[in-house]
Amino acid sequence: MSTVIKGGTVVTADLTYAADVKVEGGRIVEIGPNLKGDEVLDATGCYVMPGGIDPHTHLEMPFMGTYSSDDFESGTRAALSGGTTMVVDFALPSPGQGLIDALKMWDNKAGRATCDYSYHMAVTWWGEQVFDEMKTVIEDHGINTFKHFMAYKGALMVNDDEMYASFSRLAELGGIALVHAENGDVVAELTAKLLAAGNTGPEAHAYSRPAQVEGEATNRAIMIADMTGVPLYVVHVSSEDAHEAIRRARSLGKRVWGEPLIQHLTLDESEYFHPDWDHAARRVMSPPFRNKKHQDSLWAGLMSGSLSVVATDHCAFTTEQKRFGIGDFSKIPNGTGGLEDRMPMLWTHGVATGRLTPNEFVAVTSTNIAKILNCYPKKGAILVGADADIVVWDPEKEKTIAASAQQSAIDYNVFEGHHVKGLPRFTLTRGHVAVHDGEIRTREGHGQFVKRPGNGTVNRALSTWKELTAPRPVERTGIPATGV
Ligand code: URP
Ligand code: ZN
Ligand code: ZN
Ligand code: ZN
Repeated sequence: MSTVIKGGTVVTADLTYAADVKVEGGRIVEIGPNLKGDEVLDATGCYVMPGGIDPHTHLEMPFMGTYSSDDFESGTRAALSGGTTMVVDFALPSPGQGLIDALKMWDNKAGRATCDYSYHMAVTWWGEQVFDEMKTVIEDHGINTFKHFMAYKGALMVNDDEMYASFSRLAELGGIALVHAENGDVVAELTAKLLAAGNTGPEAHAYSRPAQVEGEATNRAIMIADMTGVPLYVVHVSSEDAHEAIRRARSLGKRVWGEPLIQHLTLDESEYFHPDWDHAARRVMSPPFRNKKHQDSLWAGLMSGSLSVVATDHCAFTTEQKRFGIGDFSKIPNGTGGLEDRMPMLWTHGVATGRLTPNEFVAVTSTNIAKILNCYPKKGAILVGADADIVVWDPEKEKTIAASAQQSAIDYNVFEGHHVKGLPRFTLTRGHVAVHDGEIRTREGHGQFVKRPGNGTVNRALSTWKELTAPRPVERTGIPATGV
């Protein structure tokens, strides 16, 4: 059974042209004029683009005494509804737990996914077992990205010595290091101080995580990555301070990528000063939303290429879960949703405003991600042979975002009331039409794991640093006699 997407304009990261796209057996089999197939999808007036890839989600994640409320079924259904056809989640070993063991747990949850998925592996502790299993994770499981939390002291945080050891191992194995860059020690101090002074509301969450803690940690991670020779991917970049460090590193030839979130690009810190406690608490995430100066910096980074991709860090908690933090902001589960809204919000605020071209939109929502994470051109491409993960994008279709109409399992939406113009007419996941003119036809369990092997040494960080400074004792002739 074949499907032809007819009459649309194909938009990739580098080309725009009129063509039909024929899909069979889950893959793109032909691109060209006047194609015929068993089923025809009318793409008149639409852009035919690679489906979005969200490189950062937390589905059914144990965190802060609870579990994030979207699981792999509802989370990926939300993704497809908004034009995203692949998610990359985080397998999170608890301290002392092996990496392979954690992977099994995530495989059990991910079996329900309605679109394709992969994982990053989190390094939440360091020891011989982690050192050994990293090789198996990369070589046998096809997971080449390892996340390090520099925040969440006493829970997920790793220290500099652990990061140095882990980054060194990854450099050897051809992996990529990811960091959540906030100085966890300083955040813990500020949190204690704020609580002691009676600042217990959600606004204090923002005070406890100023841009400096992010700038410092980002810079520290970049320097450690440079010393170990590992490429570095900085997740949820929210501030000019962090962006500045990334921009500088890239200008010096370091292999560093920055990932802003759609939330930080479009929502600001005033959300935390809303008189309704629930409203503010629902928007508590780390790093917090910031002011216009920081937002402008993130947009400038996307426009100039110093920031590479846009994600959501989708980690959705219900209002009831957020209320764990009444009387103590540090107990509000950290995280916000966005899987369904990333593509329409970025189109509306990025493309429709003229900040991004449609090709740049494809690059930052899909193709760049597939290339960095090493699953291109299986994903992120409209090419013969690529997986038929396709969004048929109608730039004229509009809606006002409302929790009452969303796929996510939670009871609110941080973008509630925002008007978007630009939405999927059809979303295809490996050829299956999961969104059909507004109708959701997702299939639980349709999603498959996508392997992303290591890059060997091709993807190394600064190419010459290690050779120039490789430790080498100096041969000396005159050695002075010892004094005593
Ligand atoms: O607040 C956030 N970002 N929650 C999800 C976990 C993380 O830090 O990415
Ligand atoms: Zn994080
Ligand atoms: Zn995250
Ligand atoms: Zn299917």
